[in-house]
Amino acid sequence: MKKEMLIMTLGVSFLTAALLVGCGSSSTDTTNGMGNGGSNGSSGNMGNQGDGSEEGAGSNIPYLRDNHANYKEHGSNQTPAPVKDANAKSINWTIAATTEEGAIKLQDHLAFMEERLLNDQNPRGWDKLFLMEAYMKYNRYYTTSVERSGTNVVVSKNANTACAYEVISAHSDAVSGDFFAQGEIMIDYSSTAESILASSACDAERTSVESYISSRQMGRGR
Ligand code: HEM
Repeated sequence: MKKEMLIMTLGVSFLTAALLVGCGSSSTDTTNGMGNGGSNGSSGNMGNQGDGSEEGAGSNIPYLRDNHANYKEHGSNQTPAPVKDANAKSINWTIAATTEEGAIKLQDHLAFMEERLLNDQNPRGWDKLFLMEAYMKYNRYYTTSVERSGTNVVVSKNANTACAYEVISAHSDAVSGDFFAQGEIMIDYSSTAESILASSACDAERTSVESYISSRQMGRGR
């Protein structure tokens, strides 16, 4: 009788352990479901096609592109637009999603991207504007804060140099004018980045940014 009890107890323990291991690995998969967005060696690149499909599952880019029209400027029916303050070098957005799911997807997109940038990754390695932004974030030339309340997402970006401000400002124009307004994410903003880099605002950063771009930039579709 005692032997049977022991066998039964061992059986239950084994089953419980197997279930726990199973759950653990599936949640790890979800967290790390970033395709090639993970560490990619010294190049730091992640993704290059630009359609978002290869930026990693956690980026939510395909969702945002497909649902771009479901985001509005808070309190109106307009495309979300950044509120810029050049003197304070800050950009603020209050974006209203039509569903809580949409707000969470956007919040998660920002968390995903910020983590990549802070870990020396650079999404859209073919686009100089995104490369410049990655450089600026990694080197702490600007900060981002994101807060969500229900269907609203509030994003604040604060730069500490004029050059970094120009970069986050141009990025916000792309997000508002093309990403949100059209769901268009294939445009290359490299020429905008080149103009910013050539301006006097970037005198101090130019040499380092140029060398960062030449070491990171990859061909489109490679
Ligand atoms: C082409 C694919 C995309 C890439 C590589 C990308 C990447 C990024 C990066 C790097 C940031 C900056 C994060 C930070 O500064 O902390 C960002 C911010 C943001 N993204 Fe995306 N994103 C993409 C598509 C989209 C789409 C389709 C939408 C919405 C329709 C979107 C909405 C936003 C918003 C609202 C922000 C915060 C505002 C801002 O940084 O100016 N993104 N994204």
